[in-house]
Formats: sequence, C-alpha cells, structure tokens
Amino acid sequence: MKTYRIGVIGLGQRIAHVLCAMDDVGWKLNVAGYADPRPVGMPILAERGIAPGKDYGSATALLKDGPFDLVMIGSPNHLHYEHLLAAFEAGYPIFAEKPIVRTEEETFALARHLKDTRTPPLFIGLVMRSMPIVRETIKRVDAGELGELVSMDATEHLPPEHGGYLARNWRRKQEWGGSYYLDKVCHDFDIFGRIVGARPAKVVSFGGRKIFRPERESAARSYSDGSPAYAIRDAGWSGANDAFHSDMDVTDHQTALVEYDSGFQLSFHSNTHVSLGERRWYIAGTEGTLLADLVRNKLMIRRAMEKGKPERMDFATRTSDNHNGADQAMAADLLNTLEKGAAFPVTPWDSMVAGLTVMAIDRAMEEQRIVDCAPMWADYDAARGGS
Ligand SMILES: NC(=O)c1ccc[n+]([C@@H]2O[C@H](COP(=O)([O-])OP(=O)(O)OC[C@H]3O[C@@H](n4cnc5c(N)ncnc54)[C@H](O)[C@@H]3O)[C@@H](O)[C@H]2O)c1
Repeated sequence: MKTYRIGVIGLGQRIAHVLCAMDDVGWKLNVAGYADPRPVGMPILAERGIAPGKDYGSATALLKDGPFDLVMIGSPNHLHYEHLLAAFEAGYPIFAEKPIVRTEEETFALARHLKDTRTPPLFIGLVMRSMPIVRETIKRVDAGELGELVSMDATEHLPPEHGGYLARNWRRKQEWGGSYYLDKVCHDFDIFGRIVGARPAKVVSFGGRKIFRPERESAARSYSDGSPAYAIRDAGWSGANDAFHSDMDVTDHQTALVEYDSGFQLSFHSNTHVSLGERRWYIAGTEGTLLADLVRNKLMIRRAMEKGKPERMDFATRTSDNHNGADQAMAADLLNTLEKGAAFPVTPWDSMVAGLTVMAIDRAMEEQRIVDCAPMWADYDAARGGS
C-alpha cells in the first residue's frame, strides 16, 4: 500500500478523529499540512503521534502545494461549499465532512458542478453508512424481511454535556452550522431515505430553545458526583463561554413528521439534554418489525406472525461518541475505495438529498406549516440536469 499524502482544510476535532481511525485500520499517512486558523484537532493528533505537517495559512496555499492523494475538508458547515469548489479546482480526491453544504442554493449550485466529469472523486463522511448495525438494518429491509414498509419512529437524544457543547460551539449559530438538524441528524435522514427508497413528499416540524437559555442560568452546573457540567470540551473556533448565555439561534429540541412519496410515514424526536441517551429506529412493515438501538449497538427483529422470541443481534463495539466503531469502518471503506475501486457506501447525491430533506423540515418549523417538498425536488433535479 502506498503512503497517502494528505492536505487538511479545517483540522478540527472531527478530522483529527477520522485521521486516528485511518491510522487504526492501517492507512500509511503523511499529513503534509493544514489550513486552519485555530486547529482544534491538534491535541487529538498529538496524543496519537500523528504529525500535522505544515501550517499553510490558507486553503489556497495548501492546495497549490500538491499533489495530494486526499484533501480532507473538516471546516464549519458554512465553509464547505467554498472549500469544495477550491478543492475541485485543484483536482485531487476529496473527503469532506457532512453536511455536504449548508443551504438549498449551495446544494443546487453544487449539483450543477458535480455534473462536470472533470470533478475529482468526492467522498462524504456520512459515517453511519459504514456502521455494521446500519448495514444489517439496510440488508434486512432490502431482503424484504419487513414486507412493505409502513411506518417508523426514530429518536436521537443527547446527554447534557453534548447539548452544552452544541450550545457553545459554532453549531449554535445558523450562519455557521445551518441548524441543529442539519448538523446533527442529516446522518439519520440519509439512512431513512435509503431504507425507504423514496423522497419525502410532505414534512412538518416543531422545535424551540427551552434548555440552553439565559432564564435557566441557575440550572445545576455540576453532576451528582461533583464533576463540572457544560464545560469539559473545548468549544473551539468562534466558541462561546457559557452554554446558557451564548447567542445560540438553533433549536435545542425538535420533532418532525415526514410522509415519503411511497406513503411511508416517519416521526422523529430529538432533545439535547437527556439523562437517558437514545438513538433508536423502530421500523414497522407489513411482514415484520425491526428495532435498531444505535447507542447500545443492538438490533431486534421479528416476523409479524412469529410467536417465538425475536432474533437479537449484539454488535458488541460501544464507544462513548456513540459512533461504535463506525469511524474505523468508514476509514476502511475509504481505503478500499481508493486502493481497489470499491464503491464508497454513500454518494454526494445521497448527501444532497439528506441535506435537502432536513432543510425542508427546518423550513416547515420556521414557517409553521406543512411543506410540500415537490418544488424543492423539481429544483434539485433541474440542477442535476445542469439547469
Ligand atoms: N461525521 C460525523 O460524525 C461528524 C462528527 C462531528 C463533526 N462532523 C462535521 O465535521 C465538520 C467539523 O466539525 P468539528 O466537530 O470537527 O468542529 P471543530 O470546531 O472541532 O473543527 C472545525 C475546524 O474548522 C476550523 N476553521 C474555521 N474557519 C476555517 C477556515 N476559514 N479555514 C479552515 N478551517 C477553518 C476551526 O478552526 C476548527 O479547527 C463539520 O462539518 C461537522 O458537521 C461530522
């Protein structure tokens, strides 16, 4: 295997963790350097002993110093489009973090760019696609074990420390992160779209900020064991000091209902401050039911008419970031793609559909109405067609 010369735009916590996962699964890494005004991921690389290379000062300077075997983009979401265009111009293979871009306009513009056959290979870090439990879920659904899919409920509930981090990090602002859903649950909606094999037709959503607001500043600032709350992780680039006093303008809890083109219905419930963490998908079909518990990494499935015990699968690996080994699996997938030409589990097109789905949900919440997604898909398909 060759040594991969890598250039990083946005050396934050995420890219540092992805580089560590690449190291875990045997990549030969030569990080040539990075462009990042405040590289939050540096201590993570230092702990692993991965040299970060040269500080190039800007993405332009970095991209001029090719060739690179991979350009990795891990900047805040509002910069993805600009950094993708610069990397397209340079022409080296790209790994970019989700969400692929931040707005509908950027999505349509990107779709037009991706039609150009000179665009280099682009791999998006929708890491759940590589999780063994997610692959198993997709496999079971595709094999018809649930029959015709009818309805589903899904959750993502984060512990207070994670919610407090989101309220302090750049994700707290729409202008940088897009929205809570765009940054956090575009993963889930990517998988839902893949499972259903259809696009959302109608969406409605409610959400708000009830947790991280100044009126709650007297909330307990420590846990029952005395350890400090809402302060552990470095809030990083453009971070705020206090989770309750930040200028946050995204939701800290939100619900959504989605009806897909196929008639399949989904309800989603999320909260950023719970004491019983959960990420769970309950999928009901005419012939069976599947429950995927992504925190405990356990899957349960049973045929509708089965009187015996459900089949249970335990995927064993559990990590505190709830990625449960997915980062390593994605790093192995990417290596396999670059070395052997294997298909990467998710395409930029899938990533754009996931992003647009979540943007429609946010629009429904803001405008307090049911959003008909058909005009958005018409615009997207037109952009894909080049107009
Ligand atoms: N796939 C996943 O599971 C996953 C998990 C976490 C984050 N992410 C994504 O990864 C990306 C980074 O998130 P993060 O958690 O690492 O955030 P982070 O704050 O740790 O890192 C972002 C980095 O971007 C840098 N940056 C800011 N302005 C820049 C500029 N002009 N040019 C270059 N770099 C710049 C910051 O200094 C910081 O080091 C986001 O898009 C996020 O949605 C994905």
